[in-house]
Amino acid sequence: MILASSKDFRRAAQRRLPRFLFDYIDGGAYDERTMHTNVSDLTEIALKQRVLRDVSKIDLSTTLFGRKLSMPVALGPVGISGMCARRGETQAALAACNAGVPFTLSTVSICSLEEVAKGCPAPIWFQLYVIRDRGFMRDMLARAKAVGVQALVFTVDMPVPGARYRDAHSGMSGRYAPLQRVLQAMGKPGWAWDVGLHGRPHSLGNLASVLGAKSGLGDYMGWLGANFDPAIRWEDLDWLRQAWDGPLIIKGILDPDDAKSAAKLGADGIVVSNHGGRQLDGVLSSARALPAIADAVKGKLTILADSGVRSGLDVVRLMALGAEGVMLGRAWAFALAANGGAGVSQMLDIFAKEMRVAMALTSVCNVSEIDRSILA
Ligand code: FNR
Repeated sequence: MILASSKDFRRAAQRRLPRFLFDYIDGGAYDERTMHTNVSDLTEIALKQRVLRDVSKIDLSTTLFGRKLSMPVALGPVGISGMCARRGETQAALAACNAGVPFTLSTVSICSLEEVAKGCPAPIWFQLYVIRDRGFMRDMLARAKAVGVQALVFTVDMPVPGARYRDAHSGMSGRYAPLQRVLQAMGKPGWAWDVGLHGRPHSLGNLASVLGAKSGLGDYMGWLGANFDPAIRWEDLDWLRQAWDGPLIIKGILDPDDAKSAAKLGADGIVVSNHGGRQLDGVLSSARALPAIADAVKGKLTILADSGVRSGLDVVRLMALGAEGVMLGRAWAFALAANGGAGVSQMLDIFAKEMRVAMALTSVCNVSEIDRSILA
């Protein structure tokens, strides 16, 4: 199968993954409207074509949080993406490192922080959810520090898990949650994933201490609902700012006033995101939310954005709207499912080429020159 675009990776992933896993990644909340408008609003952003301005030297490199990157892209946190390929997160992190971009490990990953950091020559980013047990969070921060995590991505748009109908049908959530049985059945030869991390089938690598003997996947979404803390407020985040002295990125901002609160807290960055349309359906797409947020906080912190990015052209579009860097979600998870770490490398290569074309035809040679002036 020819893998020329993120659509191809998605199709290849659909062929390879069992339905529950494909639907878990592919799906969104409620009627999936926001999930779709993330993509369609981006696609509708028209750029200004400019010609005959020497675009022979296009430089995609940038610096984010003090680190030089080959392009303004990071792999964002995707929970249990480690199931898409054997030692999945470790493979994806290595591919990101080799391509010169950061990899963000989710709290709810299959491979543990220690494993992924060890397998990756450059420092990774780590995403933390608000877990009720603050001792657990402090532990996670200490582990992140110990393995040299560069930046902490603190996700705030999941005080409660979204209503995802596909998950209920497939067994990712709900009363019967047959997922555990499915996972065990997946131990059969021929399947791509690893059953047996730390001697338990598909345990969540970072959560061993809170889960005890349970794998946590019996009712994955149920577990999230029971352990995430919806009581957290901006005022409570001071301790986090104190507890983590490296770059702190607040993920899940969709409102300019929340962006200002993040700046006031002393966050180094935000991710403008609606979690890929997986939380509240009907909220603004990232492309529509971003310009007002950029107006409110540009220069005060680093603005990243995600949700709906399917090509290097989309990266350029979000940057034109005010993002300084862009996170990928489904795009890399599907690439990992399609062809393991090599798939992620291929995908990043495709994104870089697509960015170059978009920059050449809008006549910008450096990513720092991408701004609203390239919008038609
Ligand atoms: C996510 N996302 C996510 N975010 C986060 O902070 N922690 C997590 O564990 C996860 N898990 C997760 C699983 C899956 C399957 C998906 C698709 C997404 C959200 C993710 O980081 C990102 O915001 C979205 O994926 C962006 O939307 P697109 O580009 O995938 O449409």
